[in-house]
Amino acid sequence: MKKKTMILLTVSALTFGMTACGADSSEDTADTANTTETVQETVQESSAEKAESAREENTESSNILIAYFSVPEDIDTEGIDADAGASIVVKEGEVMGNLEYMSQVIQQTIGGDLFRIETVQEYPLDHDPLVDQAAQEQDENARPQLLETVENIDQYDTILLGYPNWWGDMPMPLYTFLEEYDFSGKTIIPFTAHGGSGFSNTVATIQELQPNAQVSDNGLSISRNEVANAEDEIRSWAEELGL
Ligand SMILES: Cc1cc2nc3c(=O)[nH]c(=O)nc-3n(C[C@H](O)[C@H](O)[C@H](O)COP(=O)(O)O)c2cc1C
Repeated sequence: MKKKTMILLTVSALTFGMTACGADSSEDTADTANTTETVQETVQESSAEKAESAREENTESSNILIAYFSVPEDIDTEGIDADAGASIVVKEGEVMGNLEYMSQVIQQTIGGDLFRIETVQEYPLDHDPLVDQAAQEQDENARPQLLETVENIDQYDTILLGYPNWWGDMPMPLYTFLEEYDFSGKTIIPFTAHGGSGFSNTVATIQELQPNAQVSDNGLSISRNEVANAEDEIRSWAEELGL
């Protein structure tokens, strides 16, 4: 309850763009609803395809794992390029979640294997149901079941872990992920995108969940309004990790 109260304060400061990508207006017609469904299906399909091709590009020998969670919200992307300022990045017509984009830039910069943390039950892509479900999962301290496991986890010395700030915390699938593996002796380097809260207390939480890992305090935190234009910043940060 205390946690929720604190988060409410944060969130009221953050009524940020959340409403900007909110639910449909009451004037929407059935046609608009159909279009929205089609766009949602397209985003889901393209996310799955991209995750699949990223997996195919993975090398067998890397000791760097880039594991990330990302839910690109379903907003109208017509006419948007590079500065969506919401949950998504649009580059050359490709729609990505913020963490998905950050993860790709990191991999292009330093290599490593990409792993998308996905749940068996897909999250809604519309803003209001998404925030409601996320809040409910936090209240229930849920551990959503993950779709896939990382093969050969032992081969990785460094795990770059990317997640959005959800209600001042990690999305609950990150708890499932961090409880599923033993990262003793490995280094975890967090990176996040957010609407104003930065990492909140998540770095300390990761350390609690993985007490025998070294959790870096040199993580990367970028406002969702900046992600689309942050390629240079992401590249510099990744290079300076010296991996
Ligand atoms: C369910 C939900 C809760 C959120 N809560 C917060 C929050 O408490 N603080 C904050 O700064 N941003 C919050 N945000 C904004 C996200 O952190 C931000 O949009 C992020 O870039 C999403 O990344 P993604 O597109 O890769 O999923 C929230 C977004 C969602 C969907």
